Amino acid sequence: MRGIILAGGTGTRLDPVTRAVSKQLLPVYDKPMVYYPLSVLMQAGIRDILVISNPHHLDAYRRLLGTGADLGLRLEYAAQPEPRGLAEALLIGGEFVGDDQLALTLGDNVLVRPGLSALLREERRRLEGCTLFGCPVPDPRRFGVAELDASGQVVSLEEKPDRPRSNLAVVGLYLYDNEALARAAELKPSDRGELEITDLNRTFVESGTARLVPLGEEATWFDTGTHESLLEASVFVRGEERQGRPVGRVDDIAREMGYLPAAPVRTGG
Ligand code: TTP
Repeated sequence: MRGIILAGGTGTRLDPVTRAVSKQLLPVYDKPMVYYPLSVLMQAGIRDILVISNPHHLDAYRRLLGTGADLGLRLEYAAQPEPRGLAEALLIGGEFVGDDQLALTLGDNVLVRPGLSALLREERRRLEGCTLFGCPVPDPRRFGVAELDASGQVVSLEEKPDRPRSNLAVVGLYLYDNEALARAAELKPSDRGELEITDLNRTFVESGTARLVPLGEEATWFDTGTHESLLEASVFVRGEERQGRPVGRVDDIAREMGYLPAAPVRTGG
C-alpha cells in the first residue's frame, strides 16, 4: 500500500498565521503538524509516501523530511498548483500509486488511539473498495458526516451538512483499493470548484463497498484547522507526553515498526 499526505490548501481559517507559512508545518506542541499524519501512515506499515503541497511550500517539506531514509521511509513530493480539492490527490498521485492500494491522509489531522497500528494493518488486509474511519464529535456540521444502518453499513455521506444525520465525523484518513484512481478521474468539480473526497467516497457507498470503522471512545482526533483546535491539540499532546504516552514521535515509531534498527540500550555505570 502507498501513502499520500495532503498538505496543501489555503489555511484561511488560520489567517494571518498561514499567510506566509504552510499550515501543516505549524507546531502541534513540540512537533510540526505533518509528523502526526505521517506517524499514522507509518503505524499502518506504509513506507512509500507522497507528500503533496502548494508549489511554493513544497521545498520546506523536502527540507524537513528529505528522502525519508532517516526514518526508513521512501518519500516523494508533488505539487498541487491550486487547492482544487482533496480528491485531486488521487489524480496528482496516480502514477506514484501505480497498481497498488492507497491510504490518503490529511496533513492537518492528529489521530491517536491505543492499538491503532494493529487496527490499521487489519483494515489494510481486509480492504475492498474504500474504508473510512469515524469519530463521534459534538459539532458534526464542520465535517464529512456518515450515517450508518443498524448493521453498521454506510447509508449516507454528507459534507458539512446543515442538518447532520448523525454525530459521526469521517476522519481525514481514507483507505482505497486501486479502483479509486479511475473513480477519481471521473469526478466533476463541486459548486466550490473542488474535487470533493465525499463525492468519491459516495461512489463506494453506492456500489456497496464503503466500510466505516468507528474508532470508539478511546480514540482522540483533531482536525487542527482552526486556532481553537490547534491549541487544543497542542495541549492534548503535551498532556500525553507528560503522562509517558508519546504522540507523533516518528523516530520512535520507525524503530517500533522495525524500519530502523532498535536504539542501543544504555547501560549504567
Ligand atoms: P481544509 O482544512 O478543508 O482546507 P484548508 O487547509 O485550505 O483550510 P481553510 O478551510 O481554513 O482554508 O483542508 C483539509 C486538508 O487538506 C488540509 O491539510 C489542507 C489539505 N488540502 C489540500 O492539500 N488541497 C486542497 O485542495 C484542499 C482543499 C485541502
